[in-house]
Amino acid sequence: MLSKIMTASLYGIDGQVITVETDITSGLPSYNVVGLGDAVIKEAGERIKSALANSFLPFPRTKITVNLSPAFSKKEGSHFDLPMAVGILVSSGVLPVIGRDTAFFGELSLDGRVVGVRGTLPLVLCAAKEGIKNVFVPEENAEEASLAEGVDVYPVRNLTQVVRHFRGEERIWIKPERLIDWEEGDEVTEDFADVAGQENAKRAMVISAAGGHGLMMMGSPGAGKTMLAKRLPGILPPLTKEEMLVITKIYSVAGLLGENMPLVTKRPFRSIHHDITKAALLGGGLHPRPGEFSLAHQGVLFMDEMPLFSKNVIESLRRPLEDKEVVIARHSGNARFPGNVILVAAANPCPCGHAGDDSKECTCSGLQIANYERKISDMILDRIDMHVRVNRVRYEDVEKKSEIGTAEMREQVVGARKRQEERYGKDGMMHNAHLPVRLIGEYCKLDEGGKRLMKNAYDKLPLTMRTYHKTILVARTIADIEGAEDIEERHLAEALGYRGGMNGI
Ligand SMILES: Nc1ncnc2c1ncn2[C@@H]1O[C@H](COP(=O)(O)OP(=O)(O)O)[C@@H](O)[C@H]1O
Ligand SMILES: [Mg+2]
Ligand SMILES: [Zn+2]
Repeated sequence: MLSKIMTASLYGIDGQVITVETDITSGLPSYNVVGLGDAVIKEAGERIKSALANSFLPFPRTKITVNLSPAFSKKEGSHFDLPMAVGILVSSGVLPVIGRDTAFFGELSLDGRVVGVRGTLPLVLCAAKEGIKNVFVPEENAEEASLAEGVDVYPVRNLTQVVRHFRGEERIWIKPERLIDWEEGDEVTEDFADVAGQENAKRAMVISAAGGHGLMMMGSPGAGKTMLAKRLPGILPPLTKEEMLVITKIYSVAGLLGENMPLVTKRPFRSIHHDITKAALLGGGLHPRPGEFSLAHQGVLFMDEMPLFSKNVIESLRRPLEDKEVVIARHSGNARFPGNVILVAAANPCPCGHAGDDSKECTCSGLQIANYERKISDMILDRIDMHVRVNRVRYEDVEKKSEIGTAEMREQVVGARKRQEERYGKDGMMHNAHLPVRLIGEYCKLDEGGKRLMKNAYDKLPLTMRTYHKTILVARTIADIEGAEDIEERHLAEALGYRGGMNGI
């Protein structure tokens, strides 16, 4: 007989509901899957056969045809095992008919255990959206599944349990609805008040956070670059519930959620090392996983020692930074992973690390330093709006109480962001760093003094067309922090200060 069992397939961080149709007819024993399943799905038959045998359940020795509907969209993932196994059991009369308000997700191991899968949250969310009321998920994914509203989550350990449940022999208990504290992410654990001195760098961080501008910090080892970068997510506005859910979906598809982190409530900070591969950075793989870039969505992506990264890797960031998402081309259609990040980079001032450091002698030759600086200029010219020197804290400042901490800095950021939202709302909410060139004329008018200053800088520094625009955008953010309607000369002067550091970057 023909059975229909509901499940879903994953596309990037979103799901689509799929019906598993199983038909058992007389004929030579065979198992055929049609409807554009991937290799993992095609192999499911072997896993299901063993799982059933080891659970003392029959595998019909006739002709079995499975169709994944709608047939035109490609499907992938090992979570089809469980719905396919249930389909066989219903078709062969071992289980009663199961309604279309119930969906199944889970991979089977040969001994009949149901093992965890990636992407349970987006799968269950899409099922809930399509009106499904009950979901059977691997026990280890039940926590994240319970974030979806309006569905009953049944945590499943093994196939036998599912069979006994539908035969009325033993109940699987619904996971109690998770009471979510969406405010959780608000508390700050790493405060800027812990950073002594570095008032310049802190100011740059407020501007970076307020306008979404990329920031490069240059300074010798131990100056506090990593310490500063880690504190940047804390001055961004609190996440909205929708933002938390999107980030959590990304972490679900990456397989990073668990008992200790069922929901991402804080803006992410992801630090990447220079030996990172393009796939680890941007995502990819047979069943596409998001990379570090997307794991930093709505937070900070930190490139420590940026000059050590390969040109290839740095180049690959260009499009995603502009588009605020990564698109992975797949035979099954494109997978999209969002990635709206603030890029923060750190670099030593010279190959030995001690140029401009008054505690240690720099041992680099003039040529070495020139080459190094050229390399950095090339790297950051187009991507990073701001550049700030971070010198080792002077002894007088070590014991001094910090002038400004996270709470106050965040207030400045939130105010400036609100002003940007009011201004750009009609053009689809965005921040100064992402303002397209064609709108700069409209939103960033310069007065006579400002124009004169920029003309001077353009020739002297010199600026390129692109860095000219970026400077104006940073000035726009500085004006927004201050609450000033128009960009004034002093805003531009400060913005130029984050450009002029080296070789007229
Ligand atoms: N301005 C500072 N205020 C307080 N502690 C600092 C400061 N700068 C550095 N430190 C201390 O030095 C350590 C190393 O700093 P780090 O951020 O790793 O430097 P960098 O990344 O520039 O090499 C920090 O963990 C912190 O304990
Ligand atoms: Mg460091
Ligand atoms: Zn040096």
